[in-house]
Amino acid sequence: MSRLLEVKNLSTEFTRPNGVVYAVNGVSFHVDQGESVGIVGESGSGKSVSVLSVLGLIANNGRVTNGEAIFNGQDLLHLNERQLRAIRGTEIGVIFQDPMTSLNPVKRIGWQIAESMVKHHLCNKREALSRAIDLLAEVGIPDAETRYRNYPFEFSGGMRQRVMIAIALACKPQLLIADEPTTALDMTVQMQVLALLRESARSRNMATLIITHDFGVATNLCSRLIVMYGSKIMEMATVEEFVRRPAHPYSIGLKSSIISIGNRHKKISAIPGNAPVFTTPPEGCPFASRCGFALERCYKEIPPLRTLFPGHEVACHRAEEVMSNVI
Ligand SMILES: Nc1ncnc2c1ncn2[C@@H]1O[C@H](COP(=O)(O)OP(=O)(O)OP(=O)(O)O)[C@@H](O)[C@H]1O
Ligand code: SF4
Ligand SMILES: [Mg+2]
Repeated sequence: MSRLLEVKNLSTEFTRPNGVVYAVNGVSFHVDQGESVGIVGESGSGKSVSVLSVLGLIANNGRVTNGEAIFNGQDLLHLNERQLRAIRGTEIGVIFQDPMTSLNPVKRIGWQIAESMVKHHLCNKREALSRAIDLLAEVGIPDAETRYRNYPFEFSGGMRQRVMIAIALACKPQLLIADEPTTALDMTVQMQVLALLRESARSRNMATLIITHDFGVATNLCSRLIVMYGSKIMEMATVEEFVRRPAHPYSIGLKSSIISIGNRHKKISAIPGNAPVFTTPPEGCPFASRCGFALERCYKEIPPLRTLFPGHEVACHRAEEVMSNVI
């Protein structure tokens, strides 16, 4: 598989009145063409900021202080706003958590899907509207020929998220980035929207980068996972590897926090403690204060992300012992 996106050593900081927040700290990962990658981790771990940095969408008080994000051979971090806007919505489709705030309440659904195709000169207005109806039908909106005239408030939450998917697919992106695409939806609708995302990606051979705090959702939807904690990547491997031999104490905690009931995953427990917010650069392992395996060294030395097996990387001084303890 050829490389589509390669993020190297990305760091992002925010300035707050009470100091600097080190939100993303030396993060490196890649997405290959057609593959489905999940970024997992609890609230505040730096998942959203990692992808927002790549997309040029971080808040005004934020700054990318280091790194590269090579997409199709060009570094996104060196593009201007106009160039980035041309890539977002065409080569990279983006879906956020809350479709009500992402959709324009005073524009008809059909036009919101058609608009980007016209704006990016892919077709004329009439063709774009006809394609919007096809897309609405494809994402499972009944009576697409009439409902494309509706406004967002006339759609349910699940239908609005389907519309967001249609918008993201409209310009045939090579990569779809979805940040918590189903968190605002109830369980049944969540499953339907996830199935739709998976099927859309498969039928188009489109790569997906899905951000979620739900390990169960990630293992269902993705072939490879990136586990983040405290602004850093803790472990990165295929889903099979995570199931077979997770090597980071945090991943093991995430994995055991779900139980399988048929195809459904349910959160049963959280890992005790809170995720850190770094207002000074960390000196040791970010997970040390919550880790049952922590030694003195863990508080003093940052564990580098290292290869444990081909395609399986982990940032833990004691990964080998942790793994053999669990297997
Ligand atoms: N505009 C901002 N100003 C200051 N700090 C910010 C800003 N945006 C994000 N942060 C901080 O950056 C860190 C990482 O945030 P991020 O949004 O990436 O977390 P996340 O992993 O996506 O969490 P969640 O699951 O809650 O969405 C957090 O500590 C957050 O408070
Ligand atoms: S480096 Fe130490 S504290 Fe960090 S996860 Fe590994 S054992 Fe735990
Ligand atoms: Mg987030």
